[in-house]
Amino acid sequence: MAGMNPGQVDVGESKPLLHARHAAVTSDAASASAAGVDALRAGGNAADAACATAAALGVVDPFASGLGGGGFALVRLANGQTLALDFRESAPALLRSGSKGGIVISRQSGRSVGVPGEPAGLAELVRRFGALPFSRCLEPALRLARGFTVSPALARQIREELDRNPGSGPDLIAQLFGIDRARAARLAPGERVSRPALARTLARLQREGAAAFYRGDLAKAMVAATTAAGGVLGLADLRAYATVERKPLVSEFLGHQVLTLPPPSAGGVMVAQALGILASRATDLRHSGMGSADTLHLLAEALKHVFADRARFLGDPGYVTMPLDHLLDPHYQRELAQGISIDHVLAHDSYGTPAHAPTSPARDAGTAHISVIDQDGNAVALTTTINLSFGARIVAGDTGILLNDELDDFTLVADGKDVFAIAGGEANFPAPGKRPLSSMSPTIVVGEQGVELVTGAAGGPRIASATLQVLVAVLVQGLAAGAAVVAPRIHHQWDPDILFYEPGISAATVHALERKGHVCAQAADLGKANLIIRTPTGLDAAADPRAGGAAAGY
Ligand code: DON
Repeated sequence: MAGMNPGQVDVGESKPLLHARHAAVTSDAASASAAGVDALRAGGNAADAACATAAALGVVDPFASGLGGGGFALVRLANGQTLALDFRESAPALLRSGSKGGIVISRQSGRSVGVPGEPAGLAELVRRFGALPFSRCLEPALRLARGFTVSPALARQIREELDRNPGSGPDLIAQLFGIDRARAARLAPGERVSRPALARTLARLQREGAAAFYRGDLAKAMVAATTAAGGVLGLADLRAYATVERKPLVSEFLGHQVLTLPPPSAGGVMVAQALGILASRATDLRHSGMGSADTLHLLAEALKHVFADRARFLGDPGYVTMPLDHLLDPHYQRELAQGISIDHVLAHDSYGTPAHAPTSPARDAGTAHISVIDQDGNAVALTTTINLSFGARIVAGDTGILLNDELDDFTLVADGKDVFAIAGGEANFPAPGKRPLSSMSPTIVVGEQGVELVTGAAGGPRIASATLQVLVAVLVQGLAAGAAVVAPRIHHQWDPDILFYEPGISAATVHALERKGHVCAQAADLGKANLIIRTPTGLDAAADPRAGGAAAGY
């Protein structure tokens, strides 16, 4: 992929696999990674680059993320300081409690829209840690909003949107790009498009700061659009929105320090817990090799334990008390590891810690992960989402803001599931102001010399399994960045009791897994991970070919 230059400075190369001497950014779009390097070249650091990349992604990949969404950033500075920034969407105050009788959250309508956290989160990231003004970090996004080229990934998402919604899809696409319906219905890769309405909004945020998003015309437009679609988002919800600073979870894995997100992301707990389980089976993993049936089985069994515990215990820490010390206790993890049979799966109910069992895979394109390591060794792992592809499919008036459908990440009382069929319990029932549980798993690994690796993924529940497999590929199997990201993956989320495997896994391996008692089903694109590893000569950055992204750096 040729280097793209969104600014007037040299942003160097961008390609799926890149070796950089000093600094690297990797994301699901070449122009967005280049936007991050543009910020670095302008004197910015990893926080500025992550902000610039996220803002740019929201322009060029509107199906995945944007101002109307929210996410998490994990920061680890070269001086050792760490922080998790939670800019997850919250439920509007008028959303009634999810206890008996339940509220209705429909998949992609006004009733699925959470209060967006993206503008507040990106601005806070830069205010706390950045070296550039927020407005400078938005500059590449603004240039892109004035004109960019449709990527194959965007063209595919548009095609799928039009196939799913032949009646209203062209209107949504037309509104996003300021074009007519007929042109919207035939947008193809390589075409030049722009997002004029979003450009105006970005310019406004540059002038007035992120606060302008949460009041005045922009807030009114979001409330009006959500209300018209049956939602309950109010002006007061937007005014009250605040990012939350949280302490990263710190765990140890085979001599490395692993930093992950605390709840309301379940992803960080699951990745840390699964690594803890697998640490006791590291010898088995090393002996059997990356793609072997035994390794895939151990991964699946670890995932089943952690998804079972997620379903029973995890939710927004502002609303529920969780046994995190228990879940992350190395003794508990060792016990689970010792109970895993290499020959056969266990009874369904014996995964995790049996407790109040909950009374109870979807389209995945609404998320983007960004990894950054800068020239000074500061690192940011940032994952952001609008949930499903094109979020709630609601654009707020003439603001260009596409709203999320994040409230679908709450467990629905009716069936004990969320949109991704992840089992959940009362801890993740909806409530006013509450933040829905997430699978997002931005992860930073630290060694004696500082940051060794930054990763994370998109893909609903497959975020946690993809991130885990990338970590195991690098830290246990010793794979290089490109190979770790490309290696065929499995996914298991305990419920449904199905081991999904990518086409790259051989029939013989699948049969071996079936003999161990797994019910196997083939699936494409089990998560989209972006990874940077420090090597003796610099940084190896890899973008997941499943998303068609690119790394950039110098
Ligand atoms: O936060 C979560 O876990 C989901 N909203 C993520 C959705 C997702 O990853 C969709 N696709 N890539």
